[in-house]
Amino acid sequence: MDKLRIIGGRALAGEVRVSGAKNAALPILCAALLTEKPLALDNVPRLMDVRTMAKLLAQMGVEVGAQNDGRMELQAKGIKEPVAGYEMVKTMRASVLVLGPLLARCGRARVSLPGGCAIGARPVDQHVKGLQAMGADITVERGYMNAAAKRLRGARIAMDMVTVTGTENLMMAATLAAGTTLLENAAREPEVVDLANCLRSMGAKIDGAGTDTIRVEGVASLAGAKHRVMPDRIETGTYLAAVAATGGKVRLTEAAPDTLEATIEKLREAGAKITACGSEITIEMTGRPRSVSLTTAPYPGFPTDMQAQLMALDCVGQGTGTITETIFENRFMHALELQRLGADIAVHGNTAVVHGVERLQGATVMATDLRASASLVVAGLVAQGETLIDRIYHLDRGYEGLEHKLAGLGARIARVR
Ligand code: EPZ
Repeated sequence: MDKLRIIGGRALAGEVRVSGAKNAALPILCAALLTEKPLALDNVPRLMDVRTMAKLLAQMGVEVGAQNDGRMELQAKGIKEPVAGYEMVKTMRASVLVLGPLLARCGRARVSLPGGCAIGARPVDQHVKGLQAMGADITVERGYMNAAAKRLRGARIAMDMVTVTGTENLMMAATLAAGTTLLENAAREPEVVDLANCLRSMGAKIDGAGTDTIRVEGVASLAGAKHRVMPDRIETGTYLAAVAATGGKVRLTEAAPDTLEATIEKLREAGAKITACGSEITIEMTGRPRSVSLTTAPYPGFPTDMQAQLMALDCVGQGTGTITETIFENRFMHALELQRLGADIAVHGNTAVVHGVERLQGATVMATDLRASASLVVAGLVAQGETLIDRIYHLDRGYEGLEHKLAGLGARIARVR
């Protein structure tokens, strides 16, 4: 099993290109199910999750072109097998995003329940409730959702909590429904907006994406389109947090600064000098960061996907930071691993109190989920000596060429078997 070996203590310097956003690419790949015409994508990140989604769509009969240099073309001329089996879904819960498009396109779907994952139970009741409101008949048996609908009809759906993929699933389903759908308490994440922009370029009639109320007027069919996936705001934030921890000066290119304002603000509070101009972000950091406190929240609040990385930063902060996680019920597993590096963290329920220490000491640690792995990389980059991170397949799900990008910034990091 691959590991990452990091020799910490070196400041980062240079330039790094931000890849396309995993959490925009995944729903946008599913949008290909909504039309029989080709969907030509650009800036698709080379990630394990993207390969998994492409494989799932191909199993259904979607023609998926090879991914080269960020370009990928998909065409669902027909759908022979509207099924997402447990083997696939258990490795990537975002597979549930095929449910809405399949129901809209071919009126039936058999999708495994995703089951829990390391960071929480992560049910899909809002996805089901919304589709039922649109006229779908969905039964759950033996771990599968069996869904059918002659033709979905528009509905007013008030979601019980903000759910990103729930909003995306229902928005995609609504594009081909008869009548108008109103999604209330909708997620406002930039990835939802990117998906809406792609759907609109396919001919969908969507207003309000990016606000808490999205209005979709169903159309008879959608056309093909070309779409460039937005930059990954969490990858961007991860590199910014790494520089804030190690010190140095780095320029990030092909980024979207306006999609991670809460993260940038928090890093400025920690003492980083960050300037943004167009699609470039420059960060400069000298000395130890100041400890910061944060509470995660749906966009535009501080993103839960950046919580672990900021905890790593606080581990070497001057002072004490309090981190409160409000989105997922079990997203502090990185705290236990960070303690192995000498961090002083006390977890009480959904709050972690981090007393910054002068130096972390390198050690062998284990990745438990995607963003926890990123947090261990940030800590390893600043720890004294060697850090070995095991189970880095978690990282490969969501970070394109991480060790190459960091080595390009001067980090002593390598993948070892
Ligand atoms: C998306 O997951 C992201 N994944 C996650 O990123 C991200 O952490 C999360 O949104 C929150 O921003 C993708 O976009 C592929 P939710 P999602 O539905 O949609 C509860 C990463 O690291 N909920 O917004 O699955 C749920 O349990 C990943 O890239 C229900 O109770 O998250 C959670 O507590 C990790 N019922 C909260 O809502 C539902 O039907 C928010 O979940 C749906 C959600």
